[in-house]
Amino acid sequence: MNFVATLSETAAKNLRELEENIRQAISDDEFIFEACEPLIRGGKRLRPMLMLLCANAKTSCPNERTMPLATALELIHTASLVHDDIIDTSKKRRGVETANSKYGAQIAVLIGDYLFAKAFQLVAENNYDARVQAILSKLVKNLCVGEIRQDRSLFAVPTMTEYYTRINLKTAIFLSSCCELGAIVAQMDSHEVETLSAYGTSLGLAFQIIDDLLDFCGDEKVTGKPHGSDLKSGVITLPVIRALSTSDEAPALRKIVTSGAVTCDQIATAIKIIRGTDAVDYCRTRAEAHVEAARINLSSSLKVSVRIALERIAEFVVDRTR
Ligand code: IPE
Ligand code: IPE
Ligand code: MG
Ligand code: MG
Repeated sequence: MNFVATLSETAAKNLRELEENIRQAISDDEFIFEACEPLIRGGKRLRPMLMLLCANAKTSCPNERTMPLATALELIHTASLVHDDIIDTSKKRRGVETANSKYGAQIAVLIGDYLFAKAFQLVAENNYDARVQAILSKLVKNLCVGEIRQDRSLFAVPTMTEYYTRINLKTAIFLSSCCELGAIVAQMDSHEVETLSAYGTSLGLAFQIIDDLLDFCGDEKVTGKPHGSDLKSGVITLPVIRALSTSDEAPALRKIVTSGAVTCDQIATAIKIIRGTDAVDYCRTRAEAHVEAARINLSSSLKVSVRIALERIAEFVVDRTR
């Protein structure tokens, strides 16, 4: 992740400690370690980094307090990706073969469950504030509802409102919860908790819009996941919604994306139609607006090093290629 280079020495050190904690967390069982070690590599660690940065936004918070929770956040995220790849029948993630492709869906479901359970074990064993358990449970519930809403309407064009509801449930609430948790662990007051959480929500909306755009425009070698996979699995996202409302070729595009089974040639045609419209610019502009809204919540009372890191993350979210 290119913002890592700009992190303060402390934040970079925390990131190294986090990596070690994540490895430790999957080491209880031999098969789990063998299966999960390749899966945990290569993630951007955005969620635990947001939590760690927010926990240190005013004063420094000791790593013994933050690391188990930061580790739990990355495990929850990885678990959700393992399950997401079963649902989407994805073969590649973070540049390596997915658990479902390697072991089959049955084992992959259990690997995801294991990671969820391990995350909640870490939290339970570290005497966190009762709000922590509640926020984590809620973010997982919301993520599931977002995925269910999406998967119950595959190959159907969502309204703009429904699209935003989904990306909020799937992604923005998760990023917002990471910021909120950091602020809670550092015992910040309710206003500070709220503003950091609002930063996370807007950041999350931008993050998912760009993820949806990268599915069309990204380089598979850089993103580590297959190109065009949303269209193939019937997930209709913002670039398509926009192109359908502006393109002269909207009827042809609609026919492809709602057909129920999309061939590689049809994906290529759909991408060509989308690229012939302002959809890419439109999505970027929307993401930039959300990032701008996120930035407004970064108060001047935050430690300079943390504010700069959170600003960089906001920049990264729209400029990213992975
Ligand atoms: C992927 O998240 C899932 C989405 C919410 C788009 P990331 O892009 O943060 O995945 P990793 O952790 O870097 O692999
Ligand atoms: C986010 O959405 C996935 C989860 C919330 C688990 P995507 O389905 O777009 O994520 P990718 O593109 O597979 O990483
Ligand atoms: Mg997916
Ligand atoms: Mg995606």
